[in-house]
Amino acid sequence: MIQALILDLDGVLCDTAHFHYRAWKRLAESYGYALTYENNEALKGVSRVDSLKRILQWAQTDLSPEQFEADLVLKNNWYLEMVEQMSEADRLPGVGAFVQEAQRRQIPLALGSASKNARLVLEKIQLSGAFQAIVDASQILNGKPHPETFLTAAQLLGTAPEHCLVFEDSLAGIQAALSGGMQAIGIGHASDLPGAKLHLNHLGEYDFADFS
Ligand code: BG6
Ligand code: MG
Repeated sequence: MIQALILDLDGVLCDTAHFHYRAWKRLAESYGYALTYENNEALKGVSRVDSLKRILQWAQTDLSPEQFEADLVLKNNWYLEMVEQMSEADRLPGVGAFVQEAQRRQIPLALGSASKNARLVLEKIQLSGAFQAIVDASQILNGKPHPETFLTAAQLLGTAPEHCLVFEDSLAGIQAALSGGMQAIGIGHASDLPGAKLHLNHLGEYDFADFS
């Protein structure tokens, strides 16, 4: 029986997955590498540091530790320029109604994000007050696909993992939910997100009549 919902942020509540993609693509171009759709799917849900490591592998290049840190800052600055323009209007379809319905039914909600910018983005889309628990990359040691993000969220809510349902747009996130003993709903294509019990285009398609 499901008692609590845990939501990813980027690509589930807002289209920041696309902002991350644009910023990584720009950085990859500076290494002479054109980021592909498959590359981008593989980066979703993955921490900033691990994302750059993967891009460097694909680009078959290496950076000094100083340049690595500098490029992380560069990418994040490009990303933040896009985030700066965000507002409540940048919520993905159905997000407001989803949160309202969860609140009406008194279903606890947690955020489980791999982003260090999660709290800033939540503020921008005016959802900071919607969650009983927020877990971002600054609170955990092991990023997705490790289950720590979601297990910490479940613990903060006081709900056993098997009673939590996770909404995720990334393969790493679906894997994190499953290895934490939770069920997962994929936001995106079934072919990109194996293991999810259901696939939706966005939260607005979730039918609370299925909540059980
Ligand atoms: C995840 C995104 O939510 O956060 C990844 O899916 C991103 O694309 C990761 O790399 C880390 O985000 P940030 O904001 O800390 O660079
Ligand atoms: Mg995501």
